[in-house]
Amino acid sequence: MRTAICDTFGIDYPIFAFTPSEHVAAAVSRAGGLGVLGCVRFNDTDELERTLSWLDDNTDGKPYGVDIVMPMKIPTEGTSVDLKSMIPEEHISFVERTLQRLGVPPLPEGEGRDGVLGWLHSVARSHLDVALNHRPVLIANALGSPPVDVIEKCHEHGVLVAALAGAAKHARSHVANGVDIIVAQGYEAGGHTGEIASMVLQPDIVDAVGPDVPVLGAGGIGSGRQIAASLALGSQGVWTGSIWLGTAEYQNLQSNAGWTEAFTRATSSDTVRTRIYTGKPARLLKTKWTEAWAETEAPEPLPMPLQNLLVADAHNRINASGDPDVISMPIGQIVGRMNEVRPVADVMADLVAEFEQTVTRLEAIRK
Ligand SMILES: Cc1cc2nc3c(=O)[nH]c(=O)nc-3n(C[C@H](O)[C@H](O)[C@H](O)COP(=O)(O)O)c2cc1C
Repeated sequence: MRTAICDTFGIDYPIFAFTPSEHVAAAVSRAGGLGVLGCVRFNDTDELERTLSWLDDNTDGKPYGVDIVMPMKIPTEGTSVDLKSMIPEEHISFVERTLQRLGVPPLPEGEGRDGVLGWLHSVARSHLDVALNHRPVLIANALGSPPVDVIEKCHEHGVLVAALAGAAKHARSHVANGVDIIVAQGYEAGGHTGEIASMVLQPDIVDAVGPDVPVLGAGGIGSGRQIAASLALGSQGVWTGSIWLGTAEYQNLQSNAGWTEAFTRATSSDTVRTRIYTGKPARLLKTKWTEAWAETEAPEPLPMPLQNLLVADAHNRINASGDPDVISMPIGQIVGRMNEVRPVADVMADLVAEFEQTVTRLEAIRK
């Protein structure tokens, strides 16, 4: 399983793994893929600095990437306007009522933290500055093209830039802005998704950007067969997210038994695409929490970044409660195949082995 992008990054397999966990990212890179650390959860740049130093020391010198979430600047950014004051009372009381109804207890006094500030343009810029002092080989951006000056800065540091796209026209505009690699993110994917399924999207994007721009297929990839399909559609590699949430290394970040029960029992029908996590459509595990927001009396989710500020404390309470029926977690339809907790190295070995078997099977068909 070797494509040109393996040489670009000095990796053995064209398997890119988005993960909020540095332990997962390091293990993927050590196993020959490219671990990409998601930065959005870091409100504190010192913590990000320490985490990237840890990655520098724990990848056996192998490359890794960093993912930032850089949306457009909101009009009040950099002013003294308190964003939380823009959240309507109706939304606050709905969240509190819903948590009570679902039996989610409050956090102990003094616990909890601010909303995830990584959704702000200015915070994403500070993540980038910290990251460029380390040795990422790739900076990826979740929400559209990063601004041209950000792309140029990455290039000055010898770092390539990837951006997620859910439609061919977005991919074309990323390339026009100077983005190097397109992640073609299909409807099945966990987190922010568009409306086009991977099977249709990947060849659309491959054809739209032409042979000089590498495309990584994303959305619903959890096996070697799916990697083979993605390469058959013209992608140079795959960009994966959900499957790493089921690994032993991820338990360093989220270890409650409720989470394990929730993802191991979920089928591919148990996800929903909704604006309740960030204000933009994202695929989440379907639970009593997502169902409550779909009821007729629920308010409309707020725009980014207000929705995440609204629900951040609720997420902390839900996570602390560990109730598998209520969990709030981005995950894709591949969750139906995530049935046990396994080490990253085993998952990687299986992906590679099944890919080889698939190619052998296809070769036999060709003859
Ligand atoms: C828990 C979770 C959090 C995610 N957060 C981000 C993020 O912060 N930035 C980003 O670029 N993509 C994010 N994604 C999307 C992944 O980068 C990736 O595109 C997606 O998971 C691929 O589809 P799959 O889940 O079917 O593998 C997230 C996905 C998951 C499952």
